[in-house]
Amino acid sequence: MYYPLVRKALFQLDAERAHELTLQQLHRISGTPLMHLLRQRLPFRPVNCMGLTFKNPLGLAAGLDKNGECIDAFGAMGFGSVEIGTVTPRPQPGNDKPRMFRVLEAEGIINRMGFNNLGVDNLVENVKRAHFDGILGINIGKNKDTPVEQGKEDYLTCMDKIYAYAGYIAVNISSPNTPGLRSLQYGEALDDLLTAIKHKQQALEKRHHKYVPVAVKIAPDLSEEELVQVADSLVRHKIDGVIATNTTLDRSLISGLRHAGEEGGLSGRPLQLRSTEIVRRLADELQGRLPIVGVGGIDSLVAAREKIAAGASLLQIYSGFIFKGPPLIKEIVTHL
Ligand SMILES: Cc1cc2nc3c(=O)[nH]c(=O)nc-3n(C[C@H](O)[C@H](O)[C@H](O)COP(=O)(O)O)c2cc1C
Repeated sequence: MYYPLVRKALFQLDAERAHELTLQQLHRISGTPLMHLLRQRLPFRPVNCMGLTFKNPLGLAAGLDKNGECIDAFGAMGFGSVEIGTVTPRPQPGNDKPRMFRVLEAEGIINRMGFNNLGVDNLVENVKRAHFDGILGINIGKNKDTPVEQGKEDYLTCMDKIYAYAGYIAVNISSPNTPGLRSLQYGEALDDLLTAIKHKQQALEKRHHKYVPVAVKIAPDLSEEELVQVADSLVRHKIDGVIATNTTLDRSLISGLRHAGEEGGLSGRPLQLRSTEIVRRLADELQGRLPIVGVGGIDSLVAAREKIAAGASLLQIYSGFIFKGPPLIKEIVTHL
């Protein structure tokens, strides 16, 4: 009821400033009686996926809470899962500001944050303090100054540190804002990375006596042939799930609008169809051999249902949540 007012105030500010301010406030009220202001009581809509039981299919997508500072606050709003990160082994500042832009008329966002985060050790400390009773995903990436050829080591370092605390691990090889990262989605580089990740997962399973599923997050800008190859690699390496999709480099749906020329990845409404199409093509290719988490432009109940109809088992939102706020969680979880 009050989100339109909150949004009006926040949208007066620069996009990243609004983001920082919101996270600061959410962090501040976490664990205090004010948390009841955020709490939404939603129906239980359990989904079994990747060997885990999600209390509902809707999750917060990666990148909003990069350091895991507000896990309980997002949990209180009713998300069945919260994916924190992308986190890298070492802290890094990300790209120069400004680096986040609202494309208002299209309800889209362009960002070129560049994995700004406080590093994996800081994230783990935050996770230890959280009480979220849903599924916590931890999304991992490589530092900007790690050469792509050595990027694998960064993913393995992160896995070591987070394994004990993660409900699932998301391997981000699809951000357009870390030079060379998307090259890990193809051919030998992908096989090599997935081999190493699978070995690491097996070793960590033995050490911690628990199996933590690994999902790979892909870009919406893959050609048909590339998509087939990625799907084949994920199956061959027994990866547990695929998150589709990250942001797009395509600007065709926002041409002429303010900020359309900014570099970075586009998300929100203008990504919706493209991302749903990727889910559909993946589902065709995978034939149920691994589950799909559908993300990209979900801004309504109908958009959520379209992702499910295309073959997604779970859903995530980011931009839609910025434009519509917590009522969107309620709308989707209640009626899906
Ligand atoms: C400002 C911003 C930062 C993001 N940062 C990350 C990130 O660190 N890691 C990641 O995997 N995805 C990141 N994403 C992508 C989202 O998780 C999501 O895949 C994408 O925005 C599509 O969903 P949406 O249309 O609901 O926003 C980011 C998106 C935005 C808008």
